[in-house]
Amino acid sequence: MGPFRFLLLFFFLGVVAAESPQTILRTTTQAVAASAFAYDHLYCDSWRLSVETNNARFWRTVPFRCSEFVQEYMSGARYASDTDIVVDESLAFARSVQIANDGNDAWIFDVDETLLSNVPYYAINGFGTKVFNETSFNEWVDKARAPALAASLRLYEELLVSGFQIILLTGRNEAQRKVTVENLLHAGYHSWRSLIFREDSDMGKPAVVFKSGRRAELEGQGFRILASSGDQWSDLLGFPMAQRSFKHPNPMYYIG
Ligand SMILES: *[C@@H]1O[C@H](CO)[C@@H](O)[C@H](O)[C@H]1NC(C)=O
Repeated sequence: MGPFRFLLLFFFLGVVAAESPQTILRTTTQAVAASAFAYDHLYCDSWRLSVETNNARFWRTVPFRCSEFVQEYMSGARYASDTDIVVDESLAFARSVQIANDGNDAWIFDVDETLLSNVPYYAINGFGTKVFNETSFNEWVDKARAPALAASLRLYEELLVSGFQIILLTGRNEAQRKVTVENLLHAGYHSWRSLIFREDSDMGKPAVVFKSGRRAELEGQGFRILASSGDQWSDLLGFPMAQRSFKHPNPMYYIG
């Protein structure tokens, strides 16, 4: 043991001697709590990456230990920043792709957590830590007051001006058309080419089957699907696929 380490040891012992047992206990408790927080933060950040990359599938709720992490992610600057970058990449593609401007260049958007944000609902319903409650969610949908995701609105506006045909393809039910239109207009969206809902005949179809089926119909009508934007992989996967798919972040729920 070198002289420097001796000095450190004496310094440490001196500090310990000067502290009351209560202080030591409190300091230790804080240190344990801080490392547990750091561990959960690390774990939850990795979990979120697994969600976004479609490695984690068919999860029903956010892991309990990640409730604070997801709350912080959604309410803090991180969610908005991640969405901003997705939109920047989407715009880079939109500006680079040659469009025919013949009324058939389509860009497909999902609605919930892509154009509209249901964060006000999830904020009072556990941020995804509770099992999805269709009744209370539909009550929220009926209010038609979901705000726009600011970055998505920015993308939407530029696509419209550039001549893209905007098609909205949502897992919402046809019966929710009126409130959905009201909500979209209230949030600042307008001039979409079409707004497609689940019909009675689509009930029970997995989202990926329903959405890729509608893309096939759109192609049959002559649309060229240049891009799709959605917060679920089931918005984007399946045949036919858009030329480019843009995955918006969503660590709150999973739709297969
Ligand atoms: C779901 O929401 C409805 C309406 O708010 C409520 O009455 C019901 O108790 C909720 N169900 C569960 C399981 O929490």
